[in-house]
Amino acid sequence: MQVYTDYPLDTLNTFGMKVKAAFFSELRDAKECEQLAQLAPQYAPILVLGGGSNMLFLNNPKRWVIKNEIKGISLLEETDEYVQLRVSGGEVWHEFVLYCIDNGYCGLENLSLIPGTVGAAPIQNIGAYGVEVKRHITKVHFWHLEHQRFESLDNKDCNFGYRDSVFKHDLKGKVIITAVDWRLSKHAQLDVSYGNIKDELQRMGISRPGIKDVSDAVIAIRTAKLPNPAEIGNAGSFFKNPVVEHSVYQKIKAVYPDAPGYAVDENSTKLPAAWLIEQSGLKGYQQGAVGVHHRQALVLVNLGGATGEDIYQLSEHVINTVKEKFGISLEREVQMVG
Ligand code: EPU
Repeated sequence: MQVYTDYPLDTLNTFGMKVKAAFFSELRDAKECEQLAQLAPQYAPILVLGGGSNMLFLNNPKRWVIKNEIKGISLLEETDEYVQLRVSGGEVWHEFVLYCIDNGYCGLENLSLIPGTVGAAPIQNIGAYGVEVKRHITKVHFWHLEHQRFESLDNKDCNFGYRDSVFKHDLKGKVIITAVDWRLSKHAQLDVSYGNIKDELQRMGISRPGIKDVSDAVIAIRTAKLPNPAEIGNAGSFFKNPVVEHSVYQKIKAVYPDAPGYAVDENSTKLPAAWLIEQSGLKGYQQGAVGVHHRQALVLVNLGGATGEDIYQLSEHVINTVKEKFGISLEREVQMVG
């Protein structure tokens, strides 16, 4: 395994931050994990990088950045009803989704075009348009950096929650996800309940959609609303949608009768942070080289040449403004590094 020094990460983080890693290596095969243990005393601490699509570098990481480039998809089991696939952590997420669509494996079509890698998907239990990966993951395989051995966790032990899992808590920074196992149906069980998808399919003139149609609809919605990181640096939703007690939502509704909210259980409601930010007057707001995206207020953008600190300061401003207006504290979804 080659170790580079002062390695530029500009193209390896979707915010496009011009930072350099003290040390950098690519992991191309799970077997190379064993070498990490030997080299670690010289270069640690380690920071594992997938697609760099959910990270904000606040400065040059004084770490050994390991880019997960482990590739490969294998079929573990196939019946008339479903398939079980093992997918390596370095596979690009959207390419895996397209592979499933081409082969008629159903379940991930609503998650089309999400940036990042397969190995990063379980960490924050990626989700979109009513589906989260926890619905289809059976097992997560990883190299445990402290135990220095390969381990795995079944779905039920991953503690999946909304944009959350054990990999953001007890196992944070301690593992390299080498592969994820999936169980996908061979019969389309489409979930088009999320309003936008229904509308988009109608616009496309499709009344009996297949998985490819749903994927195309999701791609159209995302392309129209979310900035392409290849053009404008961003990391998708910067904040989580807050979950509040019903009474808090009712108070907001009394002032804004159209305020959107989605019941989570009998006590709580999830509010779209984008709506709160927009109502706070910040949609399209710019502060030097950074801004709140003009079409999706949940996305903070690097307008060119911004530093991680610039984005962080803007996120503070958004949190403080929303807190002042609604009394609700937004939580960052993106991971700060530095
Ligand atoms: N809205 C506004 N202003 C905006 C944008 C949205 O008021 O600028 C309101 C609208 O009322 C809309 C509601 O917010 O009905 C929800 O908007 P949207 O469907 O765009 O979804 P979101 O809640 O803003 C979440 C995820 C996205 C995911 C979409 C679709 C989080 C933090 N974000 O956004 O995930 O694509 O739902 O399922 O849960 C990501 O995590 O990076 C991401 C993009």
